[in-house]
Amino acid sequence: MPAVTDDLLALPANTDPYPLLRDLRDSDPVHWSEPHRAWLITRYDDVSAAFQNKALSSDRVRPLLAARAGRPATTTVLSLMSDWMVVSDPPAHTRLRKLAAGAFKGQRIAGMTEMITRIVDEHIDAFLTEPGPQDLIERVAYPLPAIVIATMLGAPPEDRDRFRDWSDELALVAFGTGGAARAERHERALRGLIEMQTYFGALVEQRRRDPGDDMLSALMARDGSDGLSDDELVAMCALLLFAGHETTTNSIANSVLALLRHPDHLDRLRQEPELIGPAVEELLRFDGPIKVLNRWVVSETQIQGRTIAPGQRVHLVLAAANRDPEKFTDPDVLDLGRSPNPHVAFGKGIHACIGAQLARMETRIALARVVARMPGLALAGEPQWKASLASRSLEALPVRCSP
Ligand code: HEM
Repeated sequence: MPAVTDDLLALPANTDPYPLLRDLRDSDPVHWSEPHRAWLITRYDDVSAAFQNKALSSDRVRPLLAARAGRPATTTVLSLMSDWMVVSDPPAHTRLRKLAAGAFKGQRIAGMTEMITRIVDEHIDAFLTEPGPQDLIERVAYPLPAIVIATMLGAPPEDRDRFRDWSDELALVAFGTGGAARAERHERALRGLIEMQTYFGALVEQRRRDPGDDMLSALMARDGSDGLSDDELVAMCALLLFAGHETTTNSIANSVLALLRHPDHLDRLRQEPELIGPAVEELLRFDGPIKVLNRWVVSETQIQGRTIAPGQRVHLVLAAANRDPEKFTDPDVLDLGRSPNPHVAFGKGIHACIGAQLARMETRIALARVVARMPGLALAGEPQWKASLASRSLEALPVRCSP
């Protein structure tokens, strides 16, 4: 057991979790944490194996429902989220994943380069017209994923700001935000979820009458005995919006911050733009958007000789696995050309991120355009990290861009 505190939400671990994660990985790689009431798994091989371990269930919201009975806002939010495929096990997961994968395939992600580049460039243009320090998240990294997913689902452009608000409110619950927001987070998430359900319910009705070539219509096209019901369609839209928003925003923002803190790498990427593919993989490994994934133990299992009991929770610490020296040479060193780079920022196994191709494309284009079009980019203040167990998320990224 390490002498340091094992609370990932406490300072300084929330600001820089890597020293604490290194201690845990070295001294107690399967560690029971009292503050989190969960096992922290920190070695790459153990995290990888855990993705395949049937004793570790993804159906992790339903058990919370029973424990939170009597708190109406909480139980309503949790019961709406409990049908999402990301928190379900086979066979329910298998069916939902197949239907979603079919609709994703139809979207021809590779053909979206032009659209994503245009959106990024419009936002950089707007940034560059304003003098003085600004928040790169608010101006560029935050709007992009919401606009992209709204466009893919076929929502009218004028509704896109609402997508961002709902996704933020849900993130308070799904990512376990701490601090002042903690007390009211379920009420805020519930407000967002109810509005989102009403909105997507109407959109589903409209697409049933008048299908298009969008992803929502593609999700419907698999109608028949195994197709998605209207309620499931609404839940799928909410999940896609939620799962793809904050993660991609953070992927862009954390990448820009890492480059600003490693100016030699920033210069290298400017000189060698063809490096953007491996560079984004490395930035996802180095300081990726998801620190921790949860699993619920449904039968007794052993990890590194520790007995993990049914009813307990396991935290798969992606941020620790991605810096395991057994897997990555000099893991704390940023190396934009690193190859191979088998990071687990997108998870692994049956729940591996279904939006990874899209997320990679958005991050590559956003980063490449920021690097190419903002040569005078510099930090304009010390960025603060949100108090969050699951996500690695900045409050803001204050920057200035000198001509
Ligand atoms: C850099 C950005 C992203 C990161 C780091 C990321 C990461 C992840 C991870 C780690 C998982 C596995 C969850 C688990 O095992 O419990 C996951 C699943 C998922 N992601 Fe992503 N994601 C990103 C972007 C996206 C985007 C853009 C979309 C869609 C528009 C998306 C949709 C999903 C969905 C639907 C799942 C659940 C898949 C399943 O349960 O089978 N993600 N993501």
